[in-house]
Amino acid sequence: MKTEHNPFITKGYIDEEHFCDRKEETDKLIKNINNQINSTLFSPRKMGKTGLIQHIFSKISQQKEINCLYIDLYATQNIHDFTQLLANAIFKTFPVKKSLANKFLDTFKNWRPIVSFDPLTGVPELSFDLTSQQINNQSISQLLKYLEKLDTPFAIAFDEFQQITFYPEENVEAILRSTIQHLQNCTFIFSGSHATLMHQMFMSVKRPFYNSTSNVFLNKIAHNEYQIFIKNTFEKRGFRISIEAIDFILNFTTGYTYHTQFICNQIFSLGYKKIDTQTTIKAILMTLDEHDSSFYQYRNLITNAQWTLLKALAKEEKVFMPYSKDFIQKYQLGTTAMVKRILDSLLEKELVYHTSGSEISFYSVYDVFLMRWLQRLPV
Ligand SMILES: Nc1ncnc2c1ncn2[C@@H]1O[C@H](COP(=O)(O)OP(=O)(O)OP(=O)(O)O)[C@@H](O)[C@H]1O
Ligand SMILES: [Mg+2]
Repeated sequence: MKTEHNPFITKGYIDEEHFCDRKEETDKLIKNINNQINSTLFSPRKMGKTGLIQHIFSKISQQKEINCLYIDLYATQNIHDFTQLLANAIFKTFPVKKSLANKFLDTFKNWRPIVSFDPLTGVPELSFDLTSQQINNQSISQLLKYLEKLDTPFAIAFDEFQQITFYPEENVEAILRSTIQHLQNCTFIFSGSHATLMHQMFMSVKRPFYNSTSNVFLNKIAHNEYQIFIKNTFEKRGFRISIEAIDFILNFTTGYTYHTQFICNQIFSLGYKKIDTQTTIKAILMTLDEHDSSFYQYRNLITNAQWTLLKALAKEEKVFMPYSKDFIQKYQLGTTAMVKRILDSLLEKELVYHTSGSEISFYSVYDVFLMRWLQRLPV
């Protein structure tokens, strides 16, 4: 008998049925692509940027002939890595059109292209036999200009785009920006989760990409939308879940997409056909236990003072005034200057998130599971 796959995905994208809401953002991003407007997608981690990109690529390629390229820059360290990823992604759009693939290889023959085949899947992979010196900061522009001459339009998503600010080469941003602004056949989505770096790149007057894109901010999925999605997804598979249980999940995860998907995935895996709050608690405890060793690792990686502040933030959930006498005294955090220094280091390590914008700003532990786990420790 074929076992049913778990409908609550915790990585990647399957299809519309497994994807909750994001209608407004989907419409805006698709409209931008259809009108050759470049977009920037901002959100904290684990909110659903990558999933949303895959969702709109899947939708738009059903509507028209377009090549969609998804490029995750997270692991790239320099122009060389970027060029390889981009070239490989371009190459993979031509698998059935051999003549296009050959023409592409021929155009870049000076970069000594090597095509190999994944031993398991048989999928062709392209790499260049070049040293870092031979690939320079014009290489990306050369690849993008090549796409400009092709008949089919391209939608290109650069995920974790803030990574380019760490490259050792100079002027990467400026060269990319000046190439991109002249392209008619390619539309871009720049996505990233590092709030400070992304804001500096796209909203600072001094930076090349300033004001050059349409901005999309991805917030938490609305409570009632997620409620309906969770209920329907369980019910379609013969499960019944109470509204109290769903609210319990969403309160526990504070509505973060990844964490909500993860808890629902665990509940589904338990296999109980009737799901109440007790079932939910069981899945939550299972999840926290599973994270035990990695969370204890944090304890070894940060200082005692950082750990104490992190725990204090977890206990309070949201801290609006971290320098107030009350907060500092309650958790014995020392002086205001110490709290400032420690808070900055926790922000830099992405263990703490600072929510600002339209709401009143506050600090909280970035990862909701870590926050819930810390809340169960003694003060
Ligand atoms: N709208 C959605 N409905 C259901 N599941 C979703 C939705 N959006 C994202 N997910 C799932 O939630 C998880 C986290 O989403 P995703 O990886 O897209 O977040 P992200 O913002 O790109 O995270 P990161 O900042 O870590 O790269 C993934 O498992 C993804 O499949
Ligand atoms: Mg992502």
